[in-house]
Amino acid sequence: MKILLTGATGLLGNAYAEAAIRRGHKVIALHHSQTPRVNGLHKTIQFDGSQTENLTQLCLEHWPDTIVNCAAISSPDAVDADPKLAEKVNVALPRLLAQISTHIGARLLHVSTDMVFDGHSDEAYRSTDMPFPTGLYGQTKLMAEREVLEHNPEDPVVLRIPILMGNSPSGKRSVHEKLLAAINAGERPKLFCDEIRQPCSASNVAEVLLELTERRDLHGIFHWAGAETLSRFEMGQRILRHFGFPLDSVQSVCKNDDPDFANRPSNLTFNLHPIVSKLKTKPATFEEQLEELTQIKPLNA
Ligand SMILES: NC(=O)c1ccc[n+]([C@@H]2O[C@H](COP(=O)([O-])OP(=O)(O)OC[C@H]3O[C@@H](n4cnc5c(N)ncnc54)[C@H](OP(=O)(O)O)[C@@H]3O)[C@@H](O)[C@H]2O)c1
Repeated sequence: MKILLTGATGLLGNAYAEAAIRRGHKVIALHHSQTPRVNGLHKTIQFDGSQTENLTQLCLEHWPDTIVNCAAISSPDAVDADPKLAEKVNVALPRLLAQISTHIGARLLHVSTDMVFDGHSDEAYRSTDMPFPTGLYGQTKLMAEREVLEHNPEDPVVLRIPILMGNSPSGKRSVHEKLLAAINAGERPKLFCDEIRQPCSASNVAEVLLELTERRDLHGIFHWAGAETLSRFEMGQRILRHFGFPLDSVQSVCKNDDPDFANRPSNLTFNLHPIVSKLKTKPATFEEQLEELTQIKPLNA
């Protein structure tokens, strides 16, 4: 199958490209500021998702069977810093990809986030629950979902995912890379004990996206996440233990004690039905996610 992949240099896009090539697909990798590191790509194309004049032509030239959109301004801080750019990359780009995919009869897989929810529910969120994002990042991602479903009503897939674990191409993107780099730089990061997440590895999400690439009978919005729910502080403790860092390298704090953070989503747990019973890939435990990570040593070890 010929797959056009945006965001091929990102944490998830890189993992998806590796998985798709392993399975024998031809991957055309679109990248922006970084160069893709995956071997075996069919083609790489530099592309700015905020300037999409040539995108239709590019898609018509390559006529992919599937378009997978992993490009995004994926950090809430970056979205707050440049909302106009975020609107272009996070909303206008998926809209155009949905229009193009409808035109060429391609399947469109679009990646979204748990942050479309406000995190105030005690129940795990189902894919049919009403989203209510609290920040601009979540708002752009929700707008994108709606654009995708409106402009590709025939064959859309929106996969909402949680905070990602994994080895990022830059070595600076994922949870453990940022945390351990801060500690090695002499910081003692504060981690919320009242912010509950359901972390998942990029490689596990990539397997799910790959199954969805090949399963044209599955359409709509789906939730995927890891097998365990943990607070950010618990995640930090498990990461520190895994890498042999002292457990007191981080501080446990409550977001509800700090007005600057009180509005952040408390509990972003996902109900994985119906997709979990339809796919071969299983949600990974946190231990399995840790085992995939490249070794990072304490600076003074
Ligand atoms: N990471 C998480 O914890 C997480 C959690 C929930 C949902 N998600 C969602 O999952 C998807 C993938 O996230 P990720 O973590 O893999 O993100 P990431 O590592 O930050 O990668 C973002 C990708 O988007 C590309 N990109 C950024 N600006 C672009 C532009 N102007 N034009 C074209 N491409 C551009 C980047 O290209 P260059 O690197 O080449 O500039 C990179 O390949 C996103 O939709 C994100 O919202 C991520």
